[in-house]
Order: sequence, then C-alpha cells, then structure tokens
Amino acid sequence: MRRKLYLETFGCQMNVLDSELVLGQLRAHGYETVTSRDDADVILYNTCSVREHAEQKVWSRLGELRDRKREDPGLIIGVIGCMAERDGATIFQRHPHIDILCGPGELDRLTALVHNAATTSDGRKRQRQVALMGAASRRSSTLEAAEDHLEMLDLSRSISPGDGPAQAYVRITRGCNKFCTYCVVPYTRGPEVHRPPGNIIEEVRKLTGSGAKEVTLLGQTVNHYAFRHGDGRTTSFAELLYQIHEAVPDLPRLRFVTSFPRDFTDEALAAMRDCRRICRYLHIPVQSGSDRILKMMNRGYTAGQYLDLIDRAREMMPDICIASDFIVGFPTETDDDFSASADLLRYCRFKNSFIFKYSPRPGTTAIDRFADDVPEETKRRRNNELLAVQQAVSTANNLEMIGKTVEVLVEGQSKLIVPPAYPAAGGVELGWERRAPLKTPGVVQLISRSRGDQVVAFDGEESLAGEFVDVEIIGARSLTLFGRVVSHSLAAVN
Ligand code: SAH
Ligand code: SF4
Ligand code: F3S
Repeated sequence: MRRKLYLETFGCQMNVLDSELVLGQLRAHGYETVTSRDDADVILYNTCSVREHAEQKVWSRLGELRDRKREDPGLIIGVIGCMAERDGATIFQRHPHIDILCGPGELDRLTALVHNAATTSDGRKRQRQVALMGAASRRSSTLEAAEDHLEMLDLSRSISPGDGPAQAYVRITRGCNKFCTYCVVPYTRGPEVHRPPGNIIEEVRKLTGSGAKEVTLLGQTVNHYAFRHGDGRTTSFAELLYQIHEAVPDLPRLRFVTSFPRDFTDEALAAMRDCRRICRYLHIPVQSGSDRILKMMNRGYTAGQYLDLIDRAREMMPDICIASDFIVGFPTETDDDFSASADLLRYCRFKNSFIFKYSPRPGTTAIDRFADDVPEETKRRRNNELLAVQQAVSTANNLEMIGKTVEVLVEGQSKLIVPPAYPAAGGVELGWERRAPLKTPGVVQLISRSRGDQVVAFDGEESLAGEFVDVEIIGARSLTLFGRVVSHSLAAVN
C-alpha cells in the first residue's frame, strides 16, 4: 500500500539536507510526498532545538494533531532531528500520540521506523519507534559504526542525471566539538566527524552532472575539516577546496558554511583567492564583540583575533562579502559589552548579520552556570539597536554596489518588492514593500544571488530560474539590490 508522507523542516541547512536525504529514502520505499498535512498518512517534523522559539513552533504543531490522531489511530506522527534527540522521551509524556522519535544521528534508520510504526499501529497494539544517540536502544555501539551508517545515508542520495536543482548542499563534517556554553548542537548532533574527501568529491561531481550550478559545503565548523586517512595523511579544509575545484571543473560556484573564527587558516583564504569558482563569501559568526562575553561563551578567540581574521581576508580579497551572527543579552552582558558588539559590526561592515536574543537551553553549560539575568526588555532593545546598526552598514555597502555589474544565479520569482523610488540618483531605501504584479506576460520580478551572497531583484523572464545572468545594479534597499539585465539572450526586458 502506498503511503502519503508530509514532512516539514525547521532549523539550519543541515536539517534541510537531512530532510532531502530521508525523503529520498522514503520515496524509494514507495512513500509519496504530499504538500498538505491533511492529506498525509505519515506526518514528520524535522526539528531544531537551537532556541526555545524553534521548539515552540513544533510543540504547537504537535498539539494541533492530537484530535486527528484520536479520530484516525492509523495516522503516524514522527518527531525527527535535533529536538527528538534533546527532548527524548519527554516528547511522549507531553504528546502520547507521537509514534516515532529519531535523532539526527540515526536518520538512516528512519525508513525502518516508519515501516514498523505503520505495520503495528492498528489502534490497539501500537509500538513506539525510538532511535536516539543517547537511548539504550541505540544500535550503533561505537562511534565508527554510527559514522558508517550515517555515511551510507549521505551516499544513498538519489541524484538523477540532468534534472536536479541548481543549488545543492553537501555535508563535509557532522556534529560539533566546540561546546560553546549556550549551544545545544554538540548534544543533538554528537561529536564532530569528517567525511572522506573521495566521497565528498564524488557527491559534488554527481550533483554537478545532475544540473547543480552552486554547491554549498556544510559543517557546523566547516573550516575545521581535516580528514585523517588510514595511512596517517590528513586532507585539510584548504586541500579539500583545491581538490573539489580541480576535480569538478564544470561546477560554476562552490561555497561553504558555517566557518568558525578560530580555525581559519591562510591556506583556506588562499584557496578562496586562487580558485576562480570558489565564491568569496564567508559566514563567520562572531557572537559578541566583548572578550569577557566571548570567554563566558567558550568561543576560544578574542574580538581582536576575530578582527585580524577579517583584516587578513579583506587584504587577500578586497571584494569578499562577510556575514555574521550575534547573540545579544547573554548572561551579565552590560551596555559596554553590547557597544563592543555594535562597534565590531561597524568595523567589519558585514553584508548581513543574524541577530538572536540569548535563549537559555536545557542541558547546556550556560544554563547551569549563569543566571539569565538580562531582562527581556533589554534583550529586545539591544536586538533592535544592533539590527539598526546592521541596516546602516548594509545601506552603505549597497550604495557602493550601484553602477557595478554582477553575475547572479536566479533562484526564482520574488515576493514582488518595490524598487527604490529614485534609483537613478543612487538612492537606498530601507526595508521592503510589496509591489503589484508585472503586466508583461511571462515577465516577473526575479530574486537571485551574487557570488558574495547578496540578494538581487530584477525583472526578467520566469524561465531564467536556475540560470546565470549579468545584472547592472541600479538601486538598493537595505536588504536587497535592484538590477537590470545586461547580458542574457532571453532576458532583455529592461
Ligand atoms: N555552528 C555555527 C552556528 C550554529 S547555531 C557557529 O558556531 O557559528 C546558529 C546560531 O544560532 C549561532 O551562530 C548563534 O548565534 C545562535 N544561537 C545558538 N544557540 C543560541 C542560544 N542558546 N540563544 C540564542 N542564540 C543562539
Ligand atoms: Fe554551537 Fe559553538 Fe558548535 Fe557552533 S561551534 S554549533 S555555536 S557549539
Ligand atoms: Fe537547529 Fe539542530 Fe541545526 S539545533 S540549528 S537543526 S543542528
């Protein structure tokens, strides 16, 4: 019997990739994906635990399903990913109607778990299916065995020649060993492991053959990659970049996220500088500009060391785009600590920053050691202030882009953003407003990304999705650049 499957994904790119992999496996076993939860026989949530807010969204989804499960006991509901691993059986206590828990380290077993839940859930003798790293039921007794199973999951990826998406993710490391005091990831994803370079290159090659034009290498601390071969040799991150660049010459764009400030070598920067097809873009979260807070976070670098890295990167690649993350309202953060973050942001002229209010997470060191003593109101104010600083920086950066021509990869139709009212004068406006649909048939507002990950909107034919186009920047808002097509045979509409 075919089963209809609905999967919703929360969290980071790792989860997006995991969802793609498990969907591939489930489809291969006869499950068909549906876009509405109401039509599904199997409902899966691939979850994130990084902040409380991320978990709340899933709790409310699960609550909504309680009545439906009562009416339809054959419905299968599964919680997979980081929240399953972190919350474990407490999820069953809060929501007894859940059938499956599967952590990110056990996802290769998911098809079997869904199958078992399906064959046992006749409403009376239901058997819950649990696969978690921390659980007694864990099948892989050693780290090596667990690694092998997960490697199989990545290798099982179904890539058909010719008709794949233009953008794809490839994992190069799993897990994290950094143990930043606020962060759940080392607990949910387990210790850091590095995939063999041959497998990574093979996957990039296959994806390119299937039509990928941009591959993003993934890792929580991606530049920490170092694969130790059986004979004692090590492949460093820089070497991996050179090897992929050389081995897959028909891949136009190679990127990677997320970088960790402490492990960034000059060799890796040189690879970015020397290899034409590696995008000059870094997402390198700083978290705070205050050395005292960085120490409490256990980040392992000072603000000065971070700035040195940014200076080195800009010296080698003046056109590099750099993005960052900040946490505001970390325990004991004073106005001076916060000002140090704002100063650092101004100095680094980040392309954009993801700014988060500190969220105490059960199981982390920070929640045990430090009282969450910055009032919510102060967190909110600092969050808004830092956003305003970033907006001013983005505006200044974007003004410098006007008049330049950039190569963009088109993602698809935009949300229809109103271009600035006075682009000819080189104006920049804040935020975005919705614009009326375009009148020319077949022409839409497209959204695209430059090699530096800048968002560029322009009017062009719908068919340009997944294509490269050269676009002249003619205006900007703080979050979006606006362009006009300068070279693409299909697209001269401006
Ligand atoms: N591995 C990446 C980040 C992973 S989590 C790195 O180390 O840079 C993504 C972002 O969420 C982090 O950069 C941090 O800014 C934020 N974050 C993580 N835990 C948080 C918490 N407890 N409260 C608020 N923000 C948090
Ligand atoms: Fe979390 Fe720190 Fe690891 Fe990033 S490096 S995933 S913030 S523990
Ligand atoms: Fe969230 Fe897990 Fe990613 S906690 S940020 S989904 S690694």
